[in-house]
Amino acid sequence: MDLIVRPRRLRRTETLRRMVRETVLTPDRFIYPLFVVPGQGVRTEVSSMPGVFQLSVDEAVREAEVTWGLGVPAVILFGIPERKDAIGSGAHAANGIVQQAVRAIKAALPQMTVITDVCLCEYTDHGHCGVIVDGDVANDATVEILVREAVSHAKAGADMVAPSDMMDGRVAAIRDGLDRVGFADVPIMSYSTKFASGYYGPFREAALSTPAFGDRRSYQMDPANRREAIRETLLDIDEGADIVMVKPALAYLDVLRDIREACDLPLAAYNVSGEYAMLKAAARMGWIDHDRVMLETLLAMRRAGADLILTYHAREAARLLA
Ligand code: PBG
Ligand code: ZN
Repeated sequence: MDLIVRPRRLRRTETLRRMVRETVLTPDRFIYPLFVVPGQGVRTEVSSMPGVFQLSVDEAVREAEVTWGLGVPAVILFGIPERKDAIGSGAHAANGIVQQAVRAIKAALPQMTVITDVCLCEYTDHGHCGVIVDGDVANDATVEILVREAVSHAKAGADMVAPSDMMDGRVAAIRDGLDRVGFADVPIMSYSTKFASGYYGPFREAALSTPAFGDRRSYQMDPANRREAIRETLLDIDEGADIVMVKPALAYLDVLRDIREACDLPLAAYNVSGEYAMLKAAARMGWIDHDRVMLETLLAMRRAGADLILTYHAREAARLLA
């Protein structure tokens, strides 16, 4: 055969492959989620998420230290409060669970980026991401509470806030609320494209946030919609988002690519709980090479266009990449 073009020439040795590799995975791009609960010395494993724990503040600090030590620059905090109520009051309590955790982690690790998830579903007794009026989440009343929540996180020392509720206009309102009280430098990472997804199941066990009635389809996006994903993203950018996000990630790599091409902001992908659980389950059955598939999956998210990846695998992946 007198082939002139032979792509295999550059695949011949690992060194050559390393030289022409287009996408690389590094822990610099990972954000590790932590679930914080009241108490002391608490470490309760989430049954559908092996290796993920509900942690009291003291334990969360230890986990943050290990995470930082592995080269992962950021954590994102979710709080499970002592008491829940109809309007999610615990979300903006000055000494709420997330506020305590932010203070403790920043005190121990001043350089670590501490991000807070801003939403009400962990704090409402009905489990929805906002206040209920006439059987549905009321947009504008919810936005007011989200602003208070974001401001209280910033006051506790959060480096970045990440609204995950999908209410209309919340990025602009949070931006304005932060700016008014001296937090013009706190960036907003918006969950700009968040689909109403079955992949959040294990998270709801971890955060005790399953809706008591109905579902989230009146505020989270329809998984069928690609153009709307771009529209939602551009809206959030207009409202002042500093980082945008696609969530879930694995089943939405096309949307990640669309958004990468539609804007030039840093883009995050949320490798969600159900994606994590599926891989753990298949690995337990011995049906899949866990580490290999994990790294391949994270790489695919970067290749699709994500700059940052929120992932429960952050620490185990960082260990393998070291
Ligand atoms: C809540 C929130 C959810 C996740 C992050 N923030 C779940 C939901 O909407 O029910 C999902 C994360 C995951 O599944 O890993 N607003
Ligand atoms: Zn929520």
